[in-house]
Amino acid sequence: MKGKMAKPLSLFSSPPPPKEGRYHSQQYMEKRKNFIFKLIAGALALALTYALYISTTDPKTASRHTERAKALLGKPGPNAIATADPVIPAVTVKSDSVAPKSAGQVEAPHVDVEEEHILVQKPKQTTTYEKPKVDVADDSKPAGKAKYGNKPKDEEGEAPSKPRKQVPKPGKAEFKKALDRVFELLPDEMHVRELLRPIDGTGKEKLRETGLRARAFKTFFEAWEKLHLVMGDDEAYVRDDIVQELRRDKSIENIAQTIHQYEAYRGFLQRLATLLFPYFSPYFADHMSLHAQMYKGGRGIVLSAGDGQAPFLLTSIPSFRKLGCNLPIEIMYLGDSDLSEDYRAELEQFEGVVTRDISAMVSDDGWRLAGWAAKPFAMLLSSFREVMFIDADSLFFKNPELLFEDEEYKKHGALFFKDRIIMPENKKRWLQQIIPKPISKNVRQTRLWTGESGHQQESGVVVVDKWRHFVAMMMVTRMNGPDRDGNESKGIVGVYDLVYGDKETFWMGWELVGDTEYAFHSGDAGIMGELKQQDPKPTESAAAPLPEGETPPPPPPEKFTICAPQLLHLDRDGKPLWFNGWILNNKFEEKKKQRKANNFEFYLRENPKPDPDTIGGQDQWQLQENNICCLTTNESAQFTTEEKATLAMILDFAYKAGAYGKGK
Ligand SMILES: *[C@@H]1O[C@H](CO)[C@@H](O)[C@H](O)[C@H]1NC(C)=O
Ligand SMILES: *[C@@H]1O[C@H](CO)[C@@H](O)[C@H](O)[C@H]1NC(C)=O
Repeated sequence: MKGKMAKPLSLFSSPPPPKEGRYHSQQYMEKRKNFIFKLIAGALALALTYALYISTTDPKTASRHTERAKALLGKPGPNAIATADPVIPAVTVKSDSVAPKSAGQVEAPHVDVEEEHILVQKPKQTTTYEKPKVDVADDSKPAGKAKYGNKPKDEEGEAPSKPRKQVPKPGKAEFKKALDRVFELLPDEMHVRELLRPIDGTGKEKLRETGLRARAFKTFFEAWEKLHLVMGDDEAYVRDDIVQELRRDKSIENIAQTIHQYEAYRGFLQRLATLLFPYFSPYFADHMSLHAQMYKGGRGIVLSAGDGQAPFLLTSIPSFRKLGCNLPIEIMYLGDSDLSEDYRAELEQFEGVVTRDISAMVSDDGWRLAGWAAKPFAMLLSSFREVMFIDADSLFFKNPELLFEDEEYKKHGALFFKDRIIMPENKKRWLQQIIPKPISKNVRQTRLWTGESGHQQESGVVVVDKWRHFVAMMMVTRMNGPDRDGNESKGIVGVYDLVYGDKETFWMGWELVGDTEYAFHSGDAGIMGELKQQDPKPTESAAAPLPEGETPPPPPPEKFTICAPQLLHLDRDGKPLWFNGWILNNKFEEKKKQRKANNFEFYLRENPKPDPDTIGGQDQWQLQENNICCLTTNESAQFTTEEKATLAMILDFAYKAGAYGKGK
């Protein structure tokens, strides 16, 4: 039926179908990218045409379809026709486009149908109804350790046996709206084939292509969730009774066709999800389940460590607690050989700490989940909704919990930190090749774009609301998972051949899927340690008597240098917030007894706008051996008594953990 329809506009003028394994030129890739989005817009146009077609041929369904088509045509929207904007047009379906059939027919038992306030609960009528637990977030609460946990505000002191509140399913209007949206998006066979084609190419080209598909996935997935996710005050769960719901709905005219469309979308979306992010199966039933279980997961800190870093955590965890942080902590590791049972037991001695083996949750066939690349997996697989990932060698001057209250974080749901302004490099062209258009303002502000530095992000601390940024986090896992490593002999360029480890994959992953909601903390970077002896002041010439009538030259501006492996992050008020690089003066010192804690007396702030005329200028940072960097600036600051006490507290915990010196 669809095939007979006149092809509307030029939406279906497409580049020639790609041949398997063929190399795609840049131009071709551009064309194809535009094509994909034209296709999606086309699917919408097709749906409209189809609705009109039906309305003129099938008297039974005519009124319903005409009504809908009218509603849709009444609001074509600025994006209805393919544009360069890869965002799939969001068509607002007016509520009056839904046939106002008698309510009650779709009602399931215990469901309050309220057209406008579907998620508002009515007082429960039945007494002992209890839904099966789907919200695993509660299980993550350390039992009997109520002090460390995300307690829902209204649950203080509540008896544990109180039956759960029932979450009402969406009302009829909401359900139909979600269903209409899904059917609007349903791509036809040709588009399906294009979206499910294996992602070929490598390096930048592949990254861009993956980003484009992930953007499409995001739109399809969000519409699908609207139909299946039931969200209440206490939990969210995936309902999987849509076909039954449709069968019960006597207001649907062509029930068979409706079910077929539902099934077609479902099959397509599952395959797209499997193509892009297959590795959480079979541990999680599907991406919706993975997403739903974190909805009420609260806030928490995620750490990861193997045996080598366990002493770091034995230092940082008690120091966070001393700073007043009561958040639950999950320590993610990769099997017994990564973090031994002894260390796990020792770490779980701390209140509110649980260790979790994520190697069992990820199917890494054909690649290997390992090292720092496991970081986004640890974040995504933690039971928290809002996670603060802290590298094992990162330590805080202030309670880390405060970052969850940061205004920028609360606004965007993702907070990243900037790296040192080091090694100027213009990667604008490079970014243009990777990030699909339109390039966001955020990207144009990065140092890679402006040329200030080839480094933008420092991922020692990353704060993310995973509920809000689920698909972006998925993209980041892919970049640090199956797409991570290259293989020269096979001509494969991996993500880690393009960027420095995981650090840039966060903001880039966000941008690849078209999620521009994130902020870089606006505090400056700096360094901490001992001040280096400055050049001795010129003495002789200054001491010599000046010729008559000449004023003495101004003294040369002061210059301060600190060399250390620590990278300090300052808060917005210029005060030390946290640092990365652990506490030793050289963490590569093999012999434990010779390891020495750095002497933290002073700190320096980098010049955020370095210019060649200032002290240090563009070369304010100098990289030395063993990860040691030197910063030279014109101002220095001394740690306050309180900051020194915090450092002493940290050093004390480190000493007890056997991290340096004699230890235990
Ligand atoms: C790269 O590919 C070759 C050929 O398939 C294979 O033998 C080799 O192990 C691969 N190297 C890596 C690092 O995976
Ligand atoms: C240090 O340099 C910055 C930037 O050039 C300047 O604004 C500031 O006043 C200088 N500070 C001192 C103490 O000279």
